[in-house]
Amino acid sequence: MMLLDDRQRAMLAEMGVRVWAPKVVQQPAQAEADAVRAVEPTPVASPAPVRAPIPEQQPTRPIRQESAAPPQARQAPTTPPAPATPPPRPSVSSEGIERMDWPQLEATVAACRACGLCEGRTQTVFGVGSQHAEWMVVGEAPGENEDRQGEPFVGQAGKLLDNMLAAINLSRQAGNSSDDLSDKPAPKQGGSKESVYIANVLKCRPPGNRNPQPEEIAQCEPYLRRQVALVRPKIILAMGRFAVHSLLQSSEPIGRLRGRVHQYQGVPVIVTYHPAYLLRSLSEKAKAWEDLSLALEVAQGSVVE
Ligand code: URA
Repeated sequence: MMLLDDRQRAMLAEMGVRVWAPKVVQQPAQAEADAVRAVEPTPVASPAPVRAPIPEQQPTRPIRQESAAPPQARQAPTTPPAPATPPPRPSVSSEGIERMDWPQLEATVAACRACGLCEGRTQTVFGVGSQHAEWMVVGEAPGENEDRQGEPFVGQAGKLLDNMLAAINLSRQAGNSSDDLSDKPAPKQGGSKESVYIANVLKCRPPGNRNPQPEEIAQCEPYLRRQVALVRPKIILAMGRFAVHSLLQSSEPIGRLRGRVHQYQGVPVIVTYHPAYLLRSLSEKAKAWEDLSLALEVAQGSVVE
């Protein structure tokens, strides 16, 4: 029986939902013994272009000033040098990745240069939580805070996500297994929580927090796929458009995909709004709670997929 503390009740009250008491289902720890194979980098024809943020207006040249300058001070027009062709990037080989264990996968992601996002990152953001979690949350991409700290969802959206998870007795910090990725102590408040593993579609921050590009998602997809295969969660919560579209290979709006059970690699997927969107659209929080409740029922096996 789920015991709600004051923080959880406040969270639910904020969402405008009535409290009920879900059952917690335990799953035995997953055995990992996958064979290991190194990834051979293969050249790609052209690198993924990194799109710089487009200014709203083209800057206007100070014509008057320029024509007022004495002729000898004017510079002869020079042709800008042609940009050097960047070397081909090593493409991600999904064949090698699907045999990797956790340390190999994390090291491969940390060294990844398969798309242009590697140029601007401080570090890769691999994932956080228990490797044996029953729940997996998939977000979009690291933002500025995540890029700096190397952990997904550590900004304002992350705080809301943590509160939402706490409301159903889940925590990224739960679990004390020696191979858990989080070395933080379990929270004292609210008793013991079930663990969750959190990862993003992209492991590197898009510059200026722009949207992920299809080529970047395609290059990163084998990493997320392997994370899901290693965690083998009972349920995936896909948060936001890019997570949903990437996992489900669908371009339908979230509003039409939520409320039912989808599948990714044989794992049930529940679609919901991104916490950053919920911060801007408070009225959608009740829908997010409905989505969490559905995910809880699926994880407990009380909803037929
Ligand atoms: N938004 C995401 O989707 N992921 C993060 O890690 C941070 C913000």
